[in-house]
Amino acid sequence: MVKWLRDQVKPRKISVIGIGYVGLVTGVVFAKHGFKTVCTDINEMKVNSLNEGSIHFWEPGLKELIEESVRKGLLSGSTDNVEAVSGSDISFICVGTPTSPDGSSDLSAVHSCSEDIGKALKDRGDYHVAVVKSSVPPGTTDGFVIPTIEKISGKRVGEEISVCVNPEFLREGSALQDGLSPDRIVIGESDKRGGDTLSIVYEDFPSLKLVCDIRTAEMIKYATNSLLATKISFANEFSRICEEYNIDVYEVMRGVGLDSRINPRFLDAGVGFGGSCFPKDVKAIIFQAKKANIETPLLDAVLNNNEIQPLHFVDLIKKYVGGIRGKTVAFLGLSFKPNTDDTRETRALPIIELLYKEGARVKAYDPKAIPNFRAMTNLHIEYVNSWEEALRGSDFAVIQADWKEFREINAEDYKRLLKLPIVIDGRRTYDPNEFVNKGVKYVGVGWKNARNP
Ligand code: UGA
Repeated sequence: MVKWLRDQVKPRKISVIGIGYVGLVTGVVFAKHGFKTVCTDINEMKVNSLNEGSIHFWEPGLKELIEESVRKGLLSGSTDNVEAVSGSDISFICVGTPTSPDGSSDLSAVHSCSEDIGKALKDRGDYHVAVVKSSVPPGTTDGFVIPTIEKISGKRVGEEISVCVNPEFLREGSALQDGLSPDRIVIGESDKRGGDTLSIVYEDFPSLKLVCDIRTAEMIKYATNSLLATKISFANEFSRICEEYNIDVYEVMRGVGLDSRINPRFLDAGVGFGGSCFPKDVKAIIFQAKKANIETPLLDAVLNNNEIQPLHFVDLIKKYVGGIRGKTVAFLGLSFKPNTDDTRETRALPIIELLYKEGARVKAYDPKAIPNFRAMTNLHIEYVNSWEEALRGSDFAVIQADWKEFREINAEDYKRLLKLPIVIDGRRTYDPNEFVNKGVKYVGVGWKNARNP
């Protein structure tokens, strides 16, 4: 037996660089599995709030688990990457890779982490695995993460150290559940020892594991997000066609999704996809392809379609309400989807901008996302503290994100509070049949009656 395999012991100490969504959830999930985990960030506020058992954004269940892990001494924060990596057996790079103005990924944070890992490993005598969890375009880990770590540490990958790529698939709003039991764990390995070590870290996770090379792992992330975004744009395109033919797109997609080759998830038509991932990752892979002179007509169309859908939604509103100039819209849901306060790339912004352009006024409510949305726009939106306040005295209602509490609003509430009992639902929050013969004019994206108000 190879010596390292015989001597292999489960790593116990983990460092996670980057206290964003992915980093914090990764850290807390490893702490929950009993690893002593240090999460680092250059932002002192994020580090302090972690050490106080708190967080700087809202995600269901996360604060409670952070509190518990900090209390048990399994999770802590630090601003010192080098010290944290030095004190750990395995380190995870979880920093952001935002879109640059030209559509490429800004990899500066990944670069500086690689330097810090190199510095930390310079004086270490024992084995260490560095893991890239950030979404990075294929070729990044080979191209500069490994060379940077090797150059600064003076160590060789495949000998004293290993580097793996382990993409993250968690969704905001259900991040803990996704982090604790992901559908699959992809392990891209620079060498077998690295992949085996990471497999041991994940041995108690109830998930399928796929081991591959590091470029493949990098590409799996982009291909996954691109296909999910494609499914959504596909459903949205069909919603517009279905509306014209008096067909319910949700019923159609249920029928489509029952084909085991397709799967029913991510076929919900709506106002388009938002968030920090799909738009960013599709743009990044298009950029990589174009750089290599490869055309991407399918992915280009996925993004174009995502811009068309909010315009279509505003047309639907106009068709249903008649003139919207001078009318007040009760706008429900500002986040890019329910269960998060994240407003990055939220479709609420293009929709509200268009409503203002058409002369409407907006009274907006969201259970968590008002502060983030307020920071994104100077439009004179009236922000209120409940759906009831938003509906009271407004002319009609629009739903952009299907928060659970909106499902509790019934036909009587809409009739009692709105001037015109009209509801235009961008997310199919309700079964449209609930409103039949209830005195409320209801239309959802891709619903049968959308053509004839
Ligand atoms: C997405 C992926 O789902 C995760 O697997 C991945 O880890 C993450 O990106 C990432 O790369 O970090 P997330 O952006 O949190 O997760 O949210 P999703 O639940 O995927 O929703 C994205 C957008 O698509 C939302 O605006 C949502 O409303 C929309 N959507 C989703 C639809 O319009 N229809 C659907 O059927 C599903």
